[in-house]
Amino acid sequence: MSSHWKWFVLGIVTTLVVLAGGAYLFVKAGGISMETTAAPLPLEKTVAGMALRASLGHAADQKDPLPFNDDTMLAAARIFKQECAVCHGIPGYPPTLISKGMFPDPPQLFEKQDMVAGDPEGETFWKVTHGIRLSGMPGFGSTLSDTERWQLTMLVAHADKLSPAVQAELSH
Ligand code: HEC
Repeated sequence: MSSHWKWFVLGIVTTLVVLAGGAYLFVKAGGISMETTAAPLPLEKTVAGMALRASLGHAADQKDPLPFNDDTMLAAARIFKQECAVCHGIPGYPPTLISKGMFPDPPQLFEKQDMVAGDPEGETFWKVTHGIRLSGMPGFGSTLSDTERWQLTMLVAHADKLSPAVQAELSH
């Protein structure tokens, strides 16, 4: 190797070591706050969004196999009250303190601005099945049956079309 190549390689190695050391010191010095109230890091949302979209893969191709009727919606409402409402809320009630204290904020799935009614059902089913790491959203793939997770998918996909019976089931 001629001598200018050696300097070139040494330059690259030094740059990498300085970058890694800098990142280490930045984290060590508290540069990344783990407080839920801290502002998002630059690019945090972008990177998390990219990773989620890549993980979802072709999930959108799957359609909810269950019929949209009150039986499906009522079954879902019973599970939702128990397992989801503490984070995602129920119609007509303010968000819980637990939900307000989390980062990221759990979407209030019965509030117009947070509904997933327009999302592909397959993607919602994927999220309920696998959860979303580092967000607080649990995966229910090993604790709820496929049918139960499709029922829940049906419920949140029709959050703007609740019958009075389903509304009543959710709120008592
Ligand atoms: C401990 C709190 C918590 C519980 C319990 C919880 N979730 Fe979540 N969920 C979250 C958070 C936080 C997010 C947002 C994740 C993000 O921003 O990437 C989320 C995201 C979601 C999303 C995606 C929303 C969107 O806009 O893409 C769906 C759908 C969902 N949850 C459904 C459910 C269902 C159904 C249950 C119950 C079986 C449930 N969650 C239980 C915290 C929770």
